[in-house]
Amino acid sequence: MLKRRLYRGRDLARAHDIAELRAMAARRVPNFCVEYLEGGADDELALARNRAAFDAIDLLPRTLVDVSRRDLGCTLFGSPVALPALIAPTGFNGLLAHEGDRLLAEAARDAGIPFCQSMVSTIALEDIAATGVRHWMQIYPFKDRANLAGVVKRAERAGSEAIVLTTDASVFGNRTWDRRNYRAPMKLDARNLLDVALHPRWILDVLVPHGMPRFRNLGDFLPPGMDSARNAAAFLAAQMDLTLTWNDIRWLRDLWPRKLLIKGILLPEDAVRAQEAGADGIVVSNHGGRQLDTCPAPIEMLPAIRAAVGPDMTIIVDSGLRRGSDFVKARALGADAALSGRATLYGLAAGGKPGVARALEIIRSEIERTLGLIGCPAMADVAADCVRLRT
Ligand SMILES: Cc1cc2nc3c(=O)[nH]c(=O)nc-3n(C[C@H](O)[C@H](O)[C@H](O)COP(=O)(O)O)c2cc1C
Repeated sequence: MLKRRLYRGRDLARAHDIAELRAMAARRVPNFCVEYLEGGADDELALARNRAAFDAIDLLPRTLVDVSRRDLGCTLFGSPVALPALIAPTGFNGLLAHEGDRLLAEAARDAGIPFCQSMVSTIALEDIAATGVRHWMQIYPFKDRANLAGVVKRAERAGSEAIVLTTDASVFGNRTWDRRNYRAPMKLDARNLLDVALHPRWILDVLVPHGMPRFRNLGDFLPPGMDSARNAAAFLAAQMDLTLTWNDIRWLRDLWPRKLLIKGILLPEDAVRAQEAGADGIVVSNHGGRQLDTCPAPIEMLPAIRAAVGPDMTIIVDSGLRRGSDFVKARALGADAALSGRATLYGLAAGGKPGVARALEIIRSEIERTLGLIGCPAMADVAADCVRLRT
């Protein structure tokens, strides 16, 4: 049998799938960045299951259907999107490429999909919104409510369409790969310092001339000059409000007049609680397997969650999507759209904005091919009868 060969060059256009962009990314950025990006919690069983769950869904093809024209678009909160996809909120993107958040946002804008910016991002949310992307802002439940309200108000002034409250990361997951690279908080060990020195292109892009990226959306919380990675990491851990309950969602609902989503839902009863609390949507997520290990894959829980909340609530799913066909499966099982987390970050790390654009083009072309192969020319018509769960 011929061995599968991964493309090893630098020409992004010759990366044929997300796995090849991932391999390019791993060569381009230092080890500690790769492990930050890849890491899952504990034994990484949830991380592996996120992929296995998509692989266990069969697509059911209908033949002799006219698929000469295919429409990949759909609507999200009443407005059109070119694909049922958004870029997920991921923190510290400036570590993978200089101004990583801006590059992701611009590539999302060019592809006609929204960008959800992490609160732990390294470019001010106003600057990202100004790119013209359909901008969503993710927040964490911080103890300091006055300052949290300040970020929400900033998002309102900047024209953000939605606030996404992430609720599954207040207690930090145990990512041992990532932790092992440091001898003290945010201080790399000798092996990793040497590895950084072996990546001069990354040093020139990320560290020179700007230095380590700083957290531009925690500025209201951090004392002036304290927004470095090291200070922010300690600050973040101390700020997470572990007392938060469903009763507190009302506070945010009253504060924020636009779309509100709760991210980190895995159970139908929590989805219903989110609906009752006035959320416009939910993100069915296990944080890409980075938080609780040995939990179900979000895609496995999706049909029961859709059944529980009914047809009208907006449901976004994430965790483990690496192929365009995964986005089709997500739609078939009840999601309005899905978040791309690592898939687009591989593109960012492999080649900046052109790398993200390449990742999105791979996903787009795979969705288009999948619709053709299953005999369903319109994304809007993808339904449960397009898939079968393998037992
Ligand atoms: C490097 C990295 C950083 C992340 N940072 C955040 C974050 O700041 N806020 C958040 O809500 N989710 C964060 N997530 C989780 C993503 O939003 C998303 O749920 C997850 O990446 C989806 O899984 P996937 O990577 O398999 O696509 C992060 C994920 C990764 C990989």
